Amino acid sequence: AQRRDLTGKKILVTAGGTQEPIDPVRYVGNRSSGKMGFAVAAAAALRGAEVVLIHANTHLPIPTGVTAVAVSTADEMLRAVLDYCSHSDVVIKAAAVADYKPARQADSKMKKEINNLALTLVPTTDILAELGKRKGKQILVGFAAETDDLLANAKKKIQRKNLDLIVANDVSRTDIGFATNENQVTFLYADGRQETLAKMNKNLVAQEIMDRVIDIIAARYPA
Ligand code: PMT
Repeated sequence: AQRRDLTGKKILVTAGGTQEPIDPVRYVGNRSSGKMGFAVAAAAALRGAEVVLIHANTHLPIPTGVTAVAVSTADEMLRAVLDYCSHSDVVIKAAAVADYKPARQADSKMKKEINNLALTLVPTTDILAELGKRKGKQILVGFAAETDDLLANAKKKIQRKNLDLIVANDVSRTDIGFATNENQVTFLYADGRQETLAKMNKNLVAQEIMDRVIDIIAARYPA
């Protein structure tokens, strides 16, 4: 039987990839399918948590018992996350958020009139870093999608974003990471501990993440 060990906990999960419009028909985006974040939301709900899932540009069925909020851009995701985060005990950010967006969005479809087209991109707000600045007892879990120096880069993100746990995955591999059913992750904690898991289905990775979240909750709120 499913353990209901997250009953009473409020968990905010993000999933999918943001799309930053260039004009009404084009965007800057990434390859996230939402599978990883949806698996996390489903695992948390099965274990009794009250789950809000903020998802960007996904085509997956909403897991049973989960409240879903659809967004598209990084700015929309930021606003939705800020709306819900103060009510959340745990925030888990599996979404792939654009780090840059076009400086201007054209009002009508850009015409093919020139040979070289340069897009000016400006940074988006780092949502997780914003949450890191304002977190009290909240538990913040990030993901790190890297193509090189996986663990070194993930460690920097734990500190910069003030996270409790980061889930690092190597997105240069075609068998794990973006749009696959399986993932292989390393957990890195704020205190320096790290743990690498075997490759497994994203639903099982999600259960492993929830086990770690429960351990962090237990350590933070001793009985
Ligand atoms: O959706 P799938 O197809 O199943 O693929 C899963 C995945 C590869 C997208 C997922 O496992 C994953 O790695 N998600 C994080 C992707 C990402 O944006 O990583 P990052 O290393 O660029 O960002 C680090 C963390 O900061 C992430 O938790 C991200 O949500 C967050 N972030 C990043 C930029 C930004 N502007 N705001 C953020 O909150």
